[in-house]
Amino acid sequence: MDNSRIDPWGSDHDTNYDRVSSRFGLDGINLEDLSNPGMLHTRGLIFAHRDLDVIMHANRRGSPFGVLTGLMPSGKMHLGHTMVIEQAKWYQSLGADVTVAVADLESLATRAVPLEKGRQVALEEYVSNYAAMGLDPEKTSVYFQSSRPEVQRLGFTLGRRTNLSELGSIYGFEGNTNLAHVQAPLVQVGDILHPMLDKFGGLRPVVVPVGVDQDPHIRLTRDIVSKSQWFNVRKSKNGGILISLSIQPENHRAFGVKQNLSVDKSERSKIISKIEHLVSSMGFSDIQTNPKHGTITIHAGTAHDVNDLRLELCKLERELGGIGLLPPSSSYHKFAIGLDGGKMSSSKPETTIFLNESIETMKRKIMKAHSGGKSTVEEHRRLGGDLETDVAFQYLKFFFEKDDAELTKIAKDYTSGKILAGEMKKLCAQQAEIWMNELTEKRAQWSDKISDFLADDAIQS
Ligand code: TRP
Repeated sequence: MDNSRIDPWGSDHDTNYDRVSSRFGLDGINLEDLSNPGMLHTRGLIFAHRDLDVIMHANRRGSPFGVLTGLMPSGKMHLGHTMVIEQAKWYQSLGADVTVAVADLESLATRAVPLEKGRQVALEEYVSNYAAMGLDPEKTSVYFQSSRPEVQRLGFTLGRRTNLSELGSIYGFEGNTNLAHVQAPLVQVGDILHPMLDKFGGLRPVVVPVGVDQDPHIRLTRDIVSKSQWFNVRKSKNGGILISLSIQPENHRAFGVKQNLSVDKSERSKIISKIEHLVSSMGFSDIQTNPKHGTITIHAGTAHDVNDLRLELCKLERELGGIGLLPPSSSYHKFAIGLDGGKMSSSKPETTIFLNESIETMKRKIMKAHSGGKSTVEEHRRLGGDLETDVAFQYLKFFFEKDDAELTKIAKDYTSGKILAGEMKKLCAQQAEIWMNELTEKRAQWSDKISDFLADDAIQS
């Protein structure tokens, strides 16, 4: 049994994506299930998800859904960081509203970045590039963890649904872990869920595009949501769907639990018939209720109906005075390799390209990047190059070459030995230059309008 953890703050990510998926129960991406898949999907760069069908379902129906993602303002923004923004852009192209957290509390807790510094870095290094990358300012809102009390309040409130041992087993926290660090995941839980609050867009499905290193936070959030929900909805063993009441101190009154913890039968019947009513108004018949057990069975319900029911029951929970939160969906991108063939890391400038790098520096870095070519030309011509370990090809695939047909041709010519390693680097450098020039130009265009992307509470007076 594999007991390895994912450490969201470590630099060593497991890049055996099949292993990660099966260990943590991520689902693979099916292109047929996506409306209008983008380059990140068709190239397999987004490789897994949780509950993405909920999002696609909302999209097909024309119902609203939101995106929430975030980055720590701890260093300079580099190529690796662009992936979450590219993911967010794709969801935005389908109609999603996008909220981006500046994780300044997390940077403070885990990287000792003072809030003031985090703020400055975020504005200069990150938000300017979100703008340049083409997010739509009308449907994008960037906020700071430290300036949004609702996020912190929600994280604090939901903190009641977890405990030290759970945090220990998810993150490996121990007795000497500093408490700001312990709080950081709860703030992230607040980040992820707060767009569902009325003030921030209201109840709707939310998807979190991230690198797979962030999955522990998704798991924690989903677990907390499932514990906080007043109604559990699941497929029943005997077929159909089972709805059951989840009794908690917050809902004792609404669910007819008396002070001495005995059940007020008439109150209990009221709540059960409310649910029955709701379910039948959704078009289901053949509903069986059991007020004593606090359950409702929908015999003809299918897996697909579970999500619709969850949404409607969240609304009911809110009417009754609960928070009413849905579990977040998520999608995961792979990590591009570092320029040296190892891990890409902001703390090692020679492993990545920063978004404000000069063209010269960038080209120099690409020209000396790790290559998948053979050691002699003769051998390369005969055996061809290795695409997986060739940084120049990988960067074309992840970032710079948007044209699928062109990329396929380059791949074919490299594996057949027609293109040499040096030529591959030149191709990469060329495309990178075009990409970087465009980004720089767009950044300049937005430079005095960055506040269009900022939420009101992110603007300091
Ligand atoms: N933890 C993320 C990082 O390390 C940043 C982050 C904070 C985030 N809140 C988030 C990411 C919510 C996704 C969703 O970069």
